[in-house]
Amino acid sequence: MSQTTALTDTGSAPADLGASEPVLAVENFALTFSANAPANLIDGISFTVERGKTLCIVGESGCGKSVTSLALMGLLSSPPARILSGTARFEGRDLFSLPEREKVNLRGNGMAMIFQEPMTSLNPAFTVGHQIAEGITRHRGLPKAEARREALRMLEWVRIPAAAKRLDAYPHQLSGGMRQRVMIAMALANRPRLLIADEPTTALDVTIQAQILDLIRHIQEETGTAVILITHDLGVVAEVADRVAVMYAGHIVEQGSVSEIFANPQHPYTIGLFGSIPSLGRRQGQLATIKGAVPPLDLMPKGCRFAPRCPFADRRCMDEVPPAAELAEGHSVACWYAPIEEKMGTRQ
Ligand SMILES: Nc1ncnc2c1ncn2[C@@H]1O[C@H](COP(=O)(O)OP(=O)(O)O)[C@@H](O)[C@H]1O
Ligand code: SF4
Ligand SMILES: [Mg+2]
Repeated sequence: MSQTTALTDTGSAPADLGASEPVLAVENFALTFSANAPANLIDGISFTVERGKTLCIVGESGCGKSVTSLALMGLLSSPPARILSGTARFEGRDLFSLPEREKVNLRGNGMAMIFQEPMTSLNPAFTVGHQIAEGITRHRGLPKAEARREALRMLEWVRIPAAAKRLDAYPHQLSGGMRQRVMIAMALANRPRLLIADEPTTALDVTIQAQILDLIRHIQEETGTAVILITHDLGVVAEVADRVAVMYAGHIVEQGSVSEIFANPQHPYTIGLFGSIPSLGRRQGQLATIKGAVPPLDLMPKGCRFAPRCPFADRRCMDEVPPAAELAEGHSVACWYAPIEEKMGTRQ
């Protein structure tokens, strides 16, 4: 049961969701930006997120984390983006085939997104109170005065000191950490059942980062919101994730519970990222740096996209895409040679 006194039911109607059913189930999602692209930018990824749980998506810059999030939110313009296959069932309804009007309605209501840079969401020309209240009015039809009161409650809820005063502040009058809290307040004002947080703390200093993560976790406990958190920080993953999906060049190469991924990584890329093969990567608190670079789409191998950087690659790896195979319950790996321990013995 919700422990919060600050939050009340919005009256929005989540679809009937069985207890064990995921809030979001993405299946075989593929996307391109160019009809003539030699390979798909996002190439057949699948994952799920459950109510009250956090899925962390990790992977090097450019692997398609933001594009995936924006596609789910319906925030990529098409063209140039083109969804080639797949479904993304949010509370049972496929986001990719919803009419635009319903997508707009879901955004900021059923699902919401926060970004690394709060000014992506905040308008410098309006006070933060006005902006939060506007979203509340739009989605819930509350009268202006009531929406303003609700906006104040949201600012208090995200622990903004002197919230009543801040209601009439413009974004530039607030610190980076405060702006991040305002963006979170705006995103959560209509109690979304899914929050996508795309590197929300990367630009903040360590103390503020910890406070923001703590806030997201606290909110999640109170509301049961499912969270997709994209991060480069393994410390953050260890602390907040229930499940982890590791992305490489538009593929999900491994996913599993946070304990499985940390204790028993099986894809060479994951092992490299987490720095446990010294010749592949070195742990630096953040994701390790792996020798080499992601090939451009026109040089992408037909098979495993990690093959050009993988010490275990052979001909089959170059030619055939390894399917995701379940090694243990909920732990799947897309590598022809997983479990990889035997190979590691011979090639380090
Ligand atoms: N609007 C766009 N048009 C064409 N290519 C894009 C667009 N947005 C992103 N990309 C490309 O998609 C790839 C994945 O980007 P992105 O999802 O932002 O990566 P990240 O994992 O760092 O969030 C990158 O190569 C990027 O250049
Ligand atoms: S499929 Fe082959 S190239 Fe890809 S990660 Fe596994 S061993 Fe390496
Ligand atoms: Mg990104």
